[in-house]
Amino acid sequence: MTSRILIFDSGVGGLTVHAEIRKALPSAKITYVADDAAFPYGDLSPKACSDRVVYVMGRAIDRFRPDVAVIACNTASTVALPALRRTFSTPFVGTVPAVKPAAALSRTRIISVLGTPGTVSREYTHDLIIQHAPDCRVTLVGASRLARLAEARLRGEAVRDADVLTEIEPCFREKDGLRTDAVALACTHYPLLLDVYRRVAPWDVAWIDPSAPIARRVAAVLAEISGKVDPSDAPESSDAAYFTSDASPAPALAAALAGRGLTPLGGFLLRFP
Ligand code: DGL
Repeated sequence: MTSRILIFDSGVGGLTVHAEIRKALPSAKITYVADDAAFPYGDLSPKACSDRVVYVMGRAIDRFRPDVAVIACNTASTVALPALRRTFSTPFVGTVPAVKPAAALSRTRIISVLGTPGTVSREYTHDLIIQHAPDCRVTLVGASRLARLAEARLRGEAVRDADVLTEIEPCFREKDGLRTDAVALACTHYPLLLDVYRRVAPWDVAWIDPSAPIARRVAAVLAEISGKVDPSDAPESSDAAYFTSDASPAPALAAALAGRGLTPLGGFLLRFP
């Protein structure tokens, strides 16, 4: 039987995760839900973010009945996963800051975590650093505009290099002749601007994008629910992307979605009062 995967983010950031899941599981039926009506989550309080995610996921799970739900958003995962797991029986795969791989890769032991203001302030993120990077100098960078810039670019708007540089520059540190050499991209929107970071960065670093490990985790969860992965199955149709704002996507965004095999649809929340 074809496995059903629900991917959720506050906006288009989860598309970076969608691409990897699509590659890893070519036969799965994937539904993408973007809560753009409440974007950006990075500005919400932990409680407001968690309540909103539980509400939207309740609607989405009722409607799409996924075998696994992917919270393709660090900001949401770092606060809402416990409540989601308490509330729904669906298995959840979350997205948390890639502190462990960044620390594993760093030679200088100077790393940065680039996330939304919400994500970098979370206890969850601080605990990851204590657990996985105790011997590293870690700079937490809360980028207030970067997710918006990634959204704007996918909508076809011009994004200035200088604005991107302002957001990423605090990641670059030097101490005792050693420099930051790894940056964890702790927001799923951020890999959408990777080519710009590489162009404007003060020096080369490893940019850690956790999308591929998330896709492997989704495949493992589906394999645990035995019989849910059958490579001979074909997907029933193209993947659908739902936007809670019910606004029609800008032509550039519609084209970007189509290029990723996604058909944009509007405000499913509104049709399920
Ligand atoms: N894509 C989301 C994340 O991974 C954040 C964007 C937002 O602020 O809503 O954290």
